[in-house]
Amino acid sequence: MRVYCAADYNHASRVAANIISAQVIMKPDCVLGLATGSTPIGTYEELIRRYEQGDLDFSGVHSINLDEYRGLSPENDQSYRYFMNTHLFDSINIDKKNTYVPDGLEPDSEKACRDYEEIIRTHGGVDLQILGLGHNGHIGFNEPGSTFEKETHCVTLSETTREANARFFSSMDEVPTEAYTMGIGSIMQAKKIVVIVTGEGKREIVKKAFLGPITPEVQASVLQLHNDVILVGDEAALAGFPR
Ligand code: F6R
Repeated sequence: MRVYCAADYNHASRVAANIISAQVIMKPDCVLGLATGSTPIGTYEELIRRYEQGDLDFSGVHSINLDEYRGLSPENDQSYRYFMNTHLFDSINIDKKNTYVPDGLEPDSEKACRDYEEIIRTHGGVDLQILGLGHNGHIGFNEPGSTFEKETHCVTLSETTREANARFFSSMDEVPTEAYTMGIGSIMQAKKIVVIVTGEGKREIVKKAFLGPITPEVQASVLQLHNDVILVGDEAALAGFPR
């Protein structure tokens, strides 16, 4: 694993955008694995800026998102499809039909997961996977548990995750209880993985994930077994982390 310690959030966002830009330039028809959440917003803003400057072309890029709340429509402003459209896709020249997010409205959870696995498979997997890190060590919505799930599956969100995400909803009751998420197996098959961690709030969990034992209780710890991970953090998150 390589560790890149940036000065602050904006710097970390530029570093992550550099890595994604390099991927898109080197392989214009690449498959990007994308995440939502607060962390990658600055990275996406950087990518938009570079696109507007004429330095990046997303016309051949395909994207596969990690997860989606079960029960939310693409038009719901809390859905991850809505997030991706408004924070990235609407502002770059990616073809929306080449962008994939699990179908939150598919009531048959087995079908939703099967369909998504098929999408991942037919694209030949992800070239570059962007990940944020949950406070409980989750990646995607792979919550602390007794196993590392292989494929896309439906999860019951932990209370800590619901509480962490409640800030985006008007009340705790509105926070969905379930989500569809790519499995750890699919995430681990990405050729390259960039994990972005910023802010003091991630300091403890980043140590647990990358320096602690590999355990399903800290799902991100499995990333220690991947042979091409870049951890991009800022000083606040990486204080005390060996570099
Ligand atoms: C988002 C996702 C989550 C987030 C994680 C960190 O698609 O899969 O695993 O990456 O919850 O969220 P933030 O960046 O808001 O701290």
